[in-house]
Amino acid sequence: MNSIDITALQQELKDKKPRAILSKALSLVDSIALSFSGAEDVILIDLALTIKKDLAVFCLDTGRLHPETYRFIDNVAKHYGITIEILTPDRTYLDPFVKAKGLFSFYQDGHHECCGLRKVEPLKTKLAQLEAWITGQRKDQSIDTRQHLPEVQWDTTFGSETKPLIKFNPLVNWNSAQVWDYIHAYQVPFNPLHQQGFVSIGCEPCTRAILPNEHERAGRWWWEAETKKECGLHAGNINPLPHSQA
Ligand code: ADX
Ligand code: SF4
Repeated sequence: MNSIDITALQQELKDKKPRAILSKALSLVDSIALSFSGAEDVILIDLALTIKKDLAVFCLDTGRLHPETYRFIDNVAKHYGITIEILTPDRTYLDPFVKAKGLFSFYQDGHHECCGLRKVEPLKTKLAQLEAWITGQRKDQSIDTRQHLPEVQWDTTFGSETKPLIKFNPLVNWNSAQVWDYIHAYQVPFNPLHQQGFVSIGCEPCTRAILPNEHERAGRWWWEAETKKECGLHAGNINPLPHSQA
């Protein structure tokens, strides 16, 4: 893994289409999994299964997703005949937090503590078993935090020099219209919440539908500043390391 020249890989994958990025990712690394959020990045599953039949897919079940999202995750698994590994928070840490602060403390003191327990810790445990992961992040999702995302990068949040981790972002150059063109053209299943004004979908208490001219992440953690709208999964987007260090 350390032998991978990330700069050369970035150059090779720059501006490439999602299928080409996925193809490279799945052929380069054996220990790799796709991180599926139950929103529109089901496209990644649709594309990746044409390349690798035994694709590993996981989803972080925070315990706070919409009922529609739970059903959608199950539908996607059945539609593609795959297993989606469902990762849940460690109750040793979650129970005392809920006991001390209740179920909605994020409206008072921000989402990071709850996201930390419900998403980041389970993800950390999962990523410790992998050499690379694949996400559905796109540049157009946020001008504040995602506009400089590359197709591939060292994950300096969950990886380290002794245990390097690569993060592939195959949809990085696609905009929302391209995503929806694909979904309609290839009849890809999608979360029914998208038909009710929800665009970027996370946990139920922290996601709202948006108005036509609002930016898609306006519906996520709407009570917080735009620059803080990363939950820890992609914390490196807020203070990205220069490429030479990443
Ligand atoms: S978040 O950090 O704000 O929640 P976002 O919803 O934009 O992330 O999703 C970006 C990518 O992060 C998704 O395409 C997916 O790869 C990953 N992701 C987000 N939420 C989850 C989740 N609950 N389970 C698995 N992966 C997720
Ligand atoms: Fe908790 Fe909201 Fe983060 Fe979900 S998005 S883990 S409910 S703070």
